[in-house]
Amino acid sequence: MCGIVAAAAQRDVVPILIAGLRALEYRGYDSAGLSVLTKGELTRARTVGKVRELENRLAESPLAGVSGIAHTRWATHGVPNEANAHPHLSTGTVAVVHNGIIENHAQLREELKALGYAFTSDTDTEVIAHLVHHLMSGGNGLREAVQTAIRRLHGAYAIAVISSEAPGHVVGARRGSPLVVGIGIGEHFLGSDVQALIKVTNRFVYLDEGDLVEITREEMQVYDLDGQPVERRVHTSELSADAVERGEYRHYMLKEIFEQPRAINDTLEGRIADGHILPNIFGVDAEALLQRVRHVQIVACGTSFHAGLVARYWLEGIAGIPCSIEVASEYRYRRAVVPADSLFLTISQSGETADTLAALREGRQRGYLGSFAVCNVPESSLVRESDLVLMTRAGPEIGVASTKAFTTQLAALALLVLELARINGIAEDKYRKLVAELASLPRLLKDVLALEPTIAELAERFVSKHHALFLGRGVNYPVALEGALKLKEISYIHAEAYPAGELKHGPLALVDEDMPVITVAPNNQLLEKLKSNLEEVRARGGELFVFADDQVQIDGLGERGAVVKVASGGNLCAPAVFTVPLQLLAYHVAVLRGTDVDQPRNLAKSVTVE
Ligand code: G6P
Repeated sequence: MCGIVAAAAQRDVVPILIAGLRALEYRGYDSAGLSVLTKGELTRARTVGKVRELENRLAESPLAGVSGIAHTRWATHGVPNEANAHPHLSTGTVAVVHNGIIENHAQLREELKALGYAFTSDTDTEVIAHLVHHLMSGGNGLREAVQTAIRRLHGAYAIAVISSEAPGHVVGARRGSPLVVGIGIGEHFLGSDVQALIKVTNRFVYLDEGDLVEITREEMQVYDLDGQPVERRVHTSELSADAVERGEYRHYMLKEIFEQPRAINDTLEGRIADGHILPNIFGVDAEALLQRVRHVQIVACGTSFHAGLVARYWLEGIAGIPCSIEVASEYRYRRAVVPADSLFLTISQSGETADTLAALREGRQRGYLGSFAVCNVPESSLVRESDLVLMTRAGPEIGVASTKAFTTQLAALALLVLELARINGIAEDKYRKLVAELASLPRLLKDVLALEPTIAELAERFVSKHHALFLGRGVNYPVALEGALKLKEISYIHAEAYPAGELKHGPLALVDEDMPVITVAPNNQLLEKLKSNLEEVRARGGELFVFADDQVQIDGLGERGAVVKVASGGNLCAPAVFTVPLQLLAYHVAVLRGTDVDQPRNLAKSVTVE
């Protein structure tokens, strides 16, 4: 989704802006641009496509300046072309970059047109530039003009604005979309996230909803919704610039798949000791709240939603707690009935997904016991707005298709489920066995990664396919959903997932020699039923690819399929373990098909608009 970088410094900021845009590429975008103040004049460069196109343009016609704003755009209003790319200018004196959606843009556009402003784009953003310009021509300074302008905006925004009338100043504001302030030595920055700025500083201020900030080379001041100066705490980020490098891997996604044993290890570290989940890991007030939980409502999007689906099986099956789950975009607009003593559980890698955040804010009004977030980004909006938090420690995830974030979410959710199970009086020996199983997850993941060459070979059989069907049962049904999502996201092969028992209620009609069927077969109580489902596929000439627990015997696939053996562990580990070969399969199919693995078309990493 759109990314913002801005800087006020003593040196030329163009290289800083470009490096920031590069670091934001992972969010997904289709055009890029920047504007700097050069000798009192606003200059601008914009290109469709990747940031390197913008760099090429700048190599031909260099720009330089000590203050500026830059943007990667993920089209919402208006096609991805140069005219719609940001920054948007008003009469050559105000430039704006924006992330979010201005819902009342049509009305503002009419008002501004009536005032004589000419529009050059189809975006909702351009109204902000003209509005700020209009307010400045009425005698306001840049900050006052932006402060007044944002009061007129409905919807979500993070913006950065410069003006030739206020050299060296950059004004930013946020509501509903993220924006952080980077504090350098004698220079200040704005960015959509910490990663955009980590090469220039590790000190950050996270803006609150409705905040406005003005930066210059020497100073930085935050103002609240009422325009009053406020102090916001400065945080030192532990993120290292290295953590966002690709290293020797061909793609970030592959790097992140291979980081999973380490990431799970980090997520569990210091949280299990002596065969027990440590009680303080959920925060000081957690125990009292968790003791009252009689129902859990999970809300999330995308891959995080799949992690939630797994957690539902565990919550009911292990902790004996009823659980409902819904995608955030549905939940937020529905009059859901809240059961008594219900915990509102959100799951999000970024902590900035617009629908998940909106659902949390909605949930807070509806009488839940409290909110609990499983999240990968400290200081994200979700973390700051939730009562209880359990951080996954996946480290930055750059590939748009989520991998290590998902498996670390599973590990974190398992910790929560086991704690709730303990509170609900699970038998001590059963509890200890499950804790020990969870602790073995990093090792199991390490082993399953050794299958990569086998899976790379298997991928060749998918390259020319147009469709694929994924099957799973029980706690591994969400794994099938996740496998199908990974394949469609990055290889663009149409993939669907079904609970294997539903096969004969529809999808079986699609099975023929051109429809590969991919199944995970754990060694659990549903195995025999799953085997019958596989027979149904085989009888229709379908090609079967089975990822089977190493204790499971699957015979007779012959040429028409393959069995890959996986040491998958019990129901607590198997979902994470079986996900890894499906991630690798999607990855290798995508590489063979030559797609943009880390930044698949039309998708964004962090969906900060509705
Ligand atoms: C986007 C990403 C997915 C992610 C989903 C939810 O669609 O491409 O990878 O699962 O958003 O994001 P979150 O940050 O809330 O987990």
